[in-house]
Amino acid sequence: MASETLVLSADTNGLQQAANALRQGQCVAFPTETVYGLGADATNDAAVARIFAAKERPNFNPLIVHVPDLDSANTFVEISDSAREIAIAFWPGPLTLVLPKRAHSKISPLVSAGLDSLAIRIPAAPLAVALLRTFGGPLAAPSANPSGRISPTTAQHVLEGLTGRIAAVLDGGPCSVGVESTILDLTGPPRLLRPGGISREALEDRLGVALSAPAPVNDTRPNAPGQLSSHYAPKAPVRLNVTTPVPDETLLGFGPVEGATLNLSPSQNLTEATANLFGALHKLDEMKVAAIAVSPIPEVGLGAAINDRLRRAAAPRG
Ligand code: TXA
Ligand code: MG
Repeated sequence: MASETLVLSADTNGLQQAANALRQGQCVAFPTETVYGLGADATNDAAVARIFAAKERPNFNPLIVHVPDLDSANTFVEISDSAREIAIAFWPGPLTLVLPKRAHSKISPLVSAGLDSLAIRIPAAPLAVALLRTFGGPLAAPSANPSGRISPTTAQHVLEGLTGRIAAVLDGGPCSVGVESTILDLTGPPRLLRPGGISREALEDRLGVALSAPAPVNDTRPNAPGQLSSHYAPKAPVRLNVTTPVPDETLLGFGPVEGATLNLSPSQNLTEATANLFGALHKLDEMKVAAIAVSPIPEVGLGAAINDRLRRAAAPRG
């Protein structure tokens, strides 16, 4: 395991150093448009095992593979005509598709935790694509945070959680979307496994069918393996849908509310609120607040992803 974590710059030199470390089987965090991912060579068992070790992630929780283009995706998964239509509509971008894994795929079996499906996406962030092309292979990458903690949207967040445990972080500044990708399972009838950066409504428009919302937080029957209820957890307890905070609570506002210490979007813009969400939770952690109260957020569009993460942040800790 790396003892020192290098911070690499978003230029040719930084990309080369990152690709070299990846070729040696090391883990390198890099920015996507959603959150920072903890990348490793998806075809190298030892490299993939290092991801699970660095995050202390249960190894039954499979990882997402990142590729730079559809041709590359096609070498690892079977893409039906209808899946191709969705891929073309939303890739590159914050959508992960779960598809049947090709037989004899070079992807390490550790990536998909023994399942015969594979979660895959083409990220939109130019630096992520540049890294995939410089490295020249598929990268397995979960969010670059210790398992169960808040996902990182800056290189600083990555360092706070994983410094000394990973070889390097490629610093590309803050992520533009701010929550993880939406996960759509297309191995059977379309199933939404995780709300995220592409809204359910946008997917339904394209698919021409209604998607049921992922089942509410429930540890006995997780939707996607590893989607356990307590997650994204700041250190302080979190209370949701609060219009009147009690004296010990620090208010994380949404909309024109009074008394908010931080506000996700004073103008009630859900895109802005999504981009600010994890940064605000990290900041409240740093401020060592006693308790967090959050204003109500509408359950439409990106609001569904925000509320999903907030419900997990507020869930009883295991
Ligand atoms: O935006 C994102 O998706 C970020 C960036 C780095 O790309 N990555 C990310 O990875 O959020 P992670 O590991 O935090 O979440 C991956 C999710 C997990 O809930 C996992 O259970 C699910 O994807 N998953 C992976 N492979 C799967 C499969 N074959 N079937 C069902 N769910 C799967
Ligand atoms: Mg994660």
